[in-house]
Amino acid sequence: MTATCLMTTYQPLALSFTHGLGTRLWDQDGREYLDAVAGVAVTNVGHSHPRLVAAISEQAGLLLHTSNLYSIDWQQRLAQKLTQLSGLERVFFNNSGAEANETALKLARLYGWHKGIEQPLVVVMENAFHGRTLGTLSASDGPAVRLGFNRLPGDFIKVPFGDLAALEDIQQAHGERIAAILVEPIQGESGVQMASPGYLKALRQLCSRRAWLLMLDEIQTGIGRTGQWFAFQHEGIVPDVMTLAKGLGNGVPIGACLARGKAAELFTPGSHGSTFGGNPLACRVGCTVLDIIQEQDLVGNARRQGEHLIGRLRAELADNPNVLAIRGQGLMIGIELKQPVRDLVLRAARDHGLLINVTRGKTIRLLPPLTIDGREIEMIVRGVSRSLVQ
Ligand SMILES: Cc1ncc(COP(=O)(O)O)c(C=O)c1O
Repeated sequence: MTATCLMTTYQPLALSFTHGLGTRLWDQDGREYLDAVAGVAVTNVGHSHPRLVAAISEQAGLLLHTSNLYSIDWQQRLAQKLTQLSGLERVFFNNSGAEANETALKLARLYGWHKGIEQPLVVVMENAFHGRTLGTLSASDGPAVRLGFNRLPGDFIKVPFGDLAALEDIQQAHGERIAAILVEPIQGESGVQMASPGYLKALRQLCSRRAWLLMLDEIQTGIGRTGQWFAFQHEGIVPDVMTLAKGLGNGVPIGACLARGKAAELFTPGSHGSTFGGNPLACRVGCTVLDIIQEQDLVGNARRQGEHLIGRLRAELADNPNVLAIRGQGLMIGIELKQPVRDLVLRAARDHGLLINVTRGKTIRLLPPLTIDGREIEMIVRGVSRSLVQ
């Protein structure tokens, strides 16, 4: 089938899947692949999980949509579960990550407005990625996503990710206008970039001292991916605002913006909304995903298998001259290369039946489902190392 009727935003591989089960996908010729991308950190409990299939089928036969003019029981239940797991207090449901971040940015604006700041600023990070809407593009970095979309809303100050001294400097220059800091605990799209341990804790202290909101984009890191329910839990802090999407719906579109304290009370009826956000289907799916993760201890599995995978990759690729660094947390792992390897993704799929992702040209990104086991870890290690030497 040709793709000529589609806008040219993507460059898909000539590979298409008909079905999936657990960690595996099958293409149109019946060939099996081990999925180490999980739809870019989405299918955390694996493909076609029987409990999810049952929940979706049953809900489709009961009720898909009523609008937020009426209360939605599954929405309440999912909000309760998410607040219990995270320590935040209230939730607004969206349909995607970018929308969840838009919600957070609106909260930052309102927060600043209530404090009497005429033009509130949000501190964001160099190389950040927060989405493709005009607001979230403005908060993101890099010409690849911003080129041609100039005159984006300019209410952001950028500082280098992980650099606490840079934050001291901007306090001097802009301190009174700053309402919030928005940051990914680990930068995913820019190549699994990690800050030093203690960075989030230092941001928490700074935000508390200055009465700024600490807003964490956990769209990629959240829902167990890094070996904790949320990446901030590695540092024993709680943000004021957190955004989620991706793994929360395991493929069914859903996003969420959580808040606590003042930030949880800023919206009033009419100040924000969404036709589809929080619909019964997406919220029931979200509840089922969280139950599966809890019951199968997939957060623990992500932590254990992630440590194992990093260790095995470091051992196996130790002598590979093209490997610059291997880093990550839980099952969010990057292998940074000195030189890009042509057709690496295609080769891994074609020759080894392994689906991987490469971001920013030179970093292999591994984001397998949280259900992955030791045997499959070996398959990833073998597939990646062989793809790199061919
Ligand atoms: C950290 C982060 N924030 C936001 C987004 C945007 O999410 P969505 O594509 O669902 O709008 C992504 C997507 O890759 C992401 O990784």
